[in-house]
Amino acid sequence: MAEEKVLIGVIGGSGLYHLDNLTFIKSVNPETPWGFPSSPITIASLPSGTRVAFLTRHGVGHFINPSNVPGRANIAALKSLGVRAIVAFSAVGSLREEIAPGSFVIPSQIIDRTKGIRPASFFQDTSIVAHTMFGDPFSNKLVHWLEERVRKALDSEGKGVKLFTDKTIVCMEGPQFSTRAESNMYRQWGGDLINMSVLPEAKLAREAELSYALIATATDYDSWRPHSEAVTAHEVFKTLKSNADTSRLVAATILDDLQAAVSSDDAAIFLEEVGSMKFSIMP
Ligand code: ADE
Repeated sequence: MAEEKVLIGVIGGSGLYHLDNLTFIKSVNPETPWGFPSSPITIASLPSGTRVAFLTRHGVGHFINPSNVPGRANIAALKSLGVRAIVAFSAVGSLREEIAPGSFVIPSQIIDRTKGIRPASFFQDTSIVAHTMFGDPFSNKLVHWLEERVRKALDSEGKGVKLFTDKTIVCMEGPQFSTRAESNMYRQWGGDLINMSVLPEAKLAREAELSYALIATATDYDSWRPHSEAVTAHEVFKTLKSNADTSRLVAATILDDLQAAVSSDDAAIFLEEVGSMKFSIMP
C-alpha cells in the first residue's frame, strides 16, 4: 500500500519542542541537497487520524542559533514528505504597547533585516535566475483561515490570551538583541513584532510553492520602552513555557480542521502557492 502523505507541517520555535495529543508514528531524517533538517521530523497522528509532520526549528534541545538554522533543508525535507501547508510557531518580541507578552499574533507582513546574510533561496549558487513573488509573504488564504480558528481556540481556552492580526514582523539578525535605537527605528518603520527566525523560512516556503503562515507568540517588549529594562534572554524564557503550553492547545484544536479543509471547499488554502513560481524564472 502506498505510504499516506502528510499534508500538514508544523515548525516549532523556541520552547515548542513537541505537540500534545498526538500518537507517534515514526521519526524521519531525510537528507536533502541542502543537508539534513534542524532535527529529525516526527510524523504523528491526531486522535482523528490526521497526520502531522513536526520539526523543531532550533533542534531538539535548542542548539541551533537562528542565523544557522538550515532553512533550505527544513523546507525541502517537509516538502519531500508531501507537506502542502506549514503552520510555523515563533517566539517574538513586541514593538507595540498593546501586544503584551503572552499575546498571540498572526502577522501579514515582514521587514527583512537578514538580507544577504543567510542563504535565502533554493536558486542561490545555481545558474537559474528566479524572482519570486513575495509582496504578500504569508499565504493569505491560510492566514485568514487560521485567524478565525486560532481566535476561537484561544477564546475557548478562557485564559484571556489575545490574538492580534494584520501586523508586521521585523526579522533581524541575532544573536544579540536590538539596541534601543534600533528597536525605536523598527517602530517608526511600522514594525509591530520582532524575531530572528521567520526568514528565510517564509521565502523558502514560497519558492517551494507551499502555503505558509506564522503564529507568533510574544515573550517580551524588546528594547524600545523608555522606562523598562531592555530585553534579556532570561525575560524571554520566563514567558516561553506558558506560550508553548498555549501553542500546543491551539495546535491540537486547529490541526484536525486544517486536514478536513483539504477535502472541502477550503482546499485552496493548501494550493494557493502551487504554480506561483511558474513565471519567476528568467528565460
Ligand atoms: N525573539 C523573542 N524576543 C525577541 C526580541 N526581542 N528580538 C528578537 N527576537 C526575539
